[in-house]
Amino acid sequence: MAKLSVRDLDTQGKRVLMRVDYNVPMEEKSGVMVINDTTRIKETLPTLQLLISKGARIVLAAHLGRPDGKREASMSLKPVAEKLAEMLGRPVQFVDETVGEKAEAAVAALKDGEILVLENVRFAAEEEENDPVFAARLARLADIYVNDAFGAAHRAHASTSGAARILKAWGKPCAAGLLMERELKFLGDELDHPVRPFVVILGGAKVSDKIKVIDSLLEKADTILIGGAMAYTFKLAHGGKTGKSLIEKDHTGTALAAEAKAKAKNVAFHLPSDTVVATPVATGKLNKKGKPVFEFVEPRVVEGDIPDDAEGFDIGPKTAAAYAEIVAGAKTILWNGPMGMFEDERFATGTVAVAKALAAVTEKGAKTIIGGGDSVKAINKAKLGDKVTFMSTGGGASLEFLEGISLPGVTALDDK
Ligand code: 3PG
Ligand code: MG
Repeated sequence: MAKLSVRDLDTQGKRVLMRVDYNVPMEEKSGVMVINDTTRIKETLPTLQLLISKGARIVLAAHLGRPDGKREASMSLKPVAEKLAEMLGRPVQFVDETVGEKAEAAVAALKDGEILVLENVRFAAEEEENDPVFAARLARLADIYVNDAFGAAHRAHASTSGAARILKAWGKPCAAGLLMERELKFLGDELDHPVRPFVVILGGAKVSDKIKVIDSLLEKADTILIGGAMAYTFKLAHGGKTGKSLIEKDHTGTALAAEAKAKAKNVAFHLPSDTVVATPVATGKLNKKGKPVFEFVEPRVVEGDIPDDAEGFDIGPKTAAAYAEIVAGAKTILWNGPMGMFEDERFATGTVAVAKALAAVTEKGAKTIIGGGDSVKAINKAKLGDKVTFMSTGGGASLEFLEGISLPGVTALDDK
C-alpha cells in the first residue's frame, strides 16, 4: 500500500524528525575522518530542500558504523554534518548528543527552515535494542516523523521504527521521504508491474545469500541471468568440475530447485557457458585477518569444466555477449550482484559488459534498476552510474526488500 508522503504534509514551523541513512564509507586521513562516497547524503537533498521550503525545523537522526552502544570518536556524525552543509550550501547545526537536555535545547532553538544533526544514534545501546524509553525520548523531539533511510529500513531500531510507532500513537504523522518513495517505487511497484520482457541479472558469491531473491523474482521475471561465484555451485550441481572455485557443496540442491521452479514458471534461466579462470598461488603472506594471501596467475578463458588447479573469477566473453544481447531486448532490467571479482581489472570484463549493456538499453527507453550494494560500486567504477534509471542506496535493505520481506522502517509509516 502507498505510504503517506512528505509532500502531503504541512510542516510550517513544525519539528520534523527525519531518519536518514548517512552510513557513508569513511577513512582517516592525517587525523581527520574523510567521506569517500557522498551518494547517500546527496540522495536526501531533495527531501531536505522540500522541507526547508515548507518551513520545517529539521532534526536529522542517523547511524554511522557499528559502535555497539559506545561513544566512538571515529564514528561521530560531525564530519557528515559538515559535508551536508557544504552540499546544501547552507549552515547545518550539530549537537554531540542524540537524546537528552542538550539535544532538546538545540531542537528548541531551531528556527523555521533550519537543520540540526543529532549525534550517532548507535552511541546508545538502546537504539539497536529498540528500547521504548529511548524511542520516546527521540519522539519527544518531534511533531512529525519522516523516514528517508531506506538503507536502514530493514532494522527494527528505535530511530527507524520505535520512535515512529510512538509518534503515531500520539497522533502525529509518519511519512516517507522522497528518497524512500523512489526506492519503494523502483524496487517495488516497477518490478511488481514490469514492462516486459523483464530480465533479472543476479551475481554475487553465494547461492545461499541470493536464493530467496531468486525465489521471489521467479514469480515476476521473464528471464534470469546468473553470474558471479554462485554460478559455480550451479555448475557443480550439474556434475561439472569447479576446480578451486568458491562453491557451496551443501547448496547444489537449492540451485537445482531454483532451476526446476524456473522451468515450471516458464522463466528462462541462463547459466554462464564460459568462465575466466586463473591459478591461485600462495604468496606466503597473511592478510589483516590472518588468512593466507594468494596471487592469481595466468588468467584464461575456459568452456565447460574448470581445471583442477584453477579458480573461476568472471563470466567469459561468450557469456558476456549472450547476456548483453538478452539485455538489449528487455524493457525492464534489475541487476543485483557483480558477474565476477570486478575489483581486479583482469576479472572486471563481464561486469563491465553487463554495465555497458544496461547503459545502452536505458538509452533506448528501457528501465534499468540497480539493486544496491556491490552492483552499484561496479557500475560507478565503470563510470556508468548516471546512465541507468535507478540505483538503490540500500545494501542489506534492498536484498531483503527484493526477497519480499516487509521492512520494519517502512511498515512503521502511515498508509496514505
Ligand atoms: C547499511 O549500510 O547497510 C545500512 O546503513 C545499515 O547498516 P547496518 O548493516 O550496520 O545495520
Ligand atoms: Mg549492512
